[in-house]
Amino acid sequence: MDQLKNLLTVAPDRIRSAIDLEALKEVENDLLGRKSLIAESRRSLASLPPEERPATGARLNQANEQLTALIAARRAELERAVEDDLLLGDRVDVTLPARALGSGWHHLVTQTLEEVADIFVSLGYGVVTGPEVDTAWHNFDALNTPPTHPARLESDTMYVGYGDPDDELLLRTQTSTMQVRYMEQHDPPVYIVAPGRCYRTDTLDATHSPVFHQIEGLAVDEHITMADLKGTLAYFMREFLGSERKIRLLPHFFPFTEPSAEMHVSCFNCDGSGCRVCSGSGWIELLGCGVVDPHVLEAVGYDSAKYSGFAFGVGAERLAMVRHGINHIKHFFENDSRVLRQFS
Ligand code: DAH
Repeated sequence: MDQLKNLLTVAPDRIRSAIDLEALKEVENDLLGRKSLIAESRRSLASLPPEERPATGARLNQANEQLTALIAARRAELERAVEDDLLLGDRVDVTLPARALGSGWHHLVTQTLEEVADIFVSLGYGVVTGPEVDTAWHNFDALNTPPTHPARLESDTMYVGYGDPDDELLLRTQTSTMQVRYMEQHDPPVYIVAPGRCYRTDTLDATHSPVFHQIEGLAVDEHITMADLKGTLAYFMREFLGSERKIRLLPHFFPFTEPSAEMHVSCFNCDGSGCRVCSGSGWIELLGCGVVDPHVLEAVGYDSAKYSGFAFGVGAERLAMVRHGINHIKHFFENDSRVLRQFS
């Protein structure tokens, strides 16, 4: 009983000073484990005279309960401390200055397509889009391009196969497909632009890429003439490149327009006096255009005696290169954000 009394005086201190759960486990083992004073005393109760057993047994139980409660309290304390440490370690200091996240922006090609479309929308045009995989009929036949035309060769056009043998599927080589698609579905008058992606069997060089973008324009109405085309393109160029730019139309050939023309703008770099950018000519070729060939109108069932139209097709990369002095088309497709960011 003396030993027990001693134990009960020192034990609370030992329990309180266990610095972590492991140390507490050891203390618990010492105080209450199989080899502890209390356990051993309980085992030897039988050797006591019978009249002493109940009182001694009760003392031992009481001591056991007392120590168990102290240990449980200390364990709860230590567990809470572990949890607090964890929470503290995970704490986020919301008052620290944040790293700014840059916001995204549209790719220069998208910006260009949208800007051109907007200019024509301001003139009352609608914007239409259509499939990149199309039929030879929409890409060639309906556009007055005969079966023998060299542009139809695989050296220029990517065929998809699997199509109707009489109307093969291909990756459209021009947004002019949308002239046909739109007129098939709508009666005149027509005033539309059609931005979109095109494909050709071209090798990458400074101005050619097997994938590129065009914007097609088409106006069909009564009494449309070449003068309307010229006026419209002059307005478009003034809006897009500024009022200092001059334009000129040079005779050209396209199967779907007659007459056909190539439009040039005075060089933005030298203002027409001749420099490296315009190869000394003072002019930069920008787009193809013309008066819609009556065969095209007839292919979609329009009355070519009553209606006439003009059309044009312009490369989006070309427009952006001319405007921003970009020297290689690859910059549009490599998607190096250091290049593109300049146009954000
Ligand atoms: N589709 C022609 C090309 O890709 C460009 C073009 C020329 C479109 C004349 C037209 C046009 O609508 O009338 O080279």
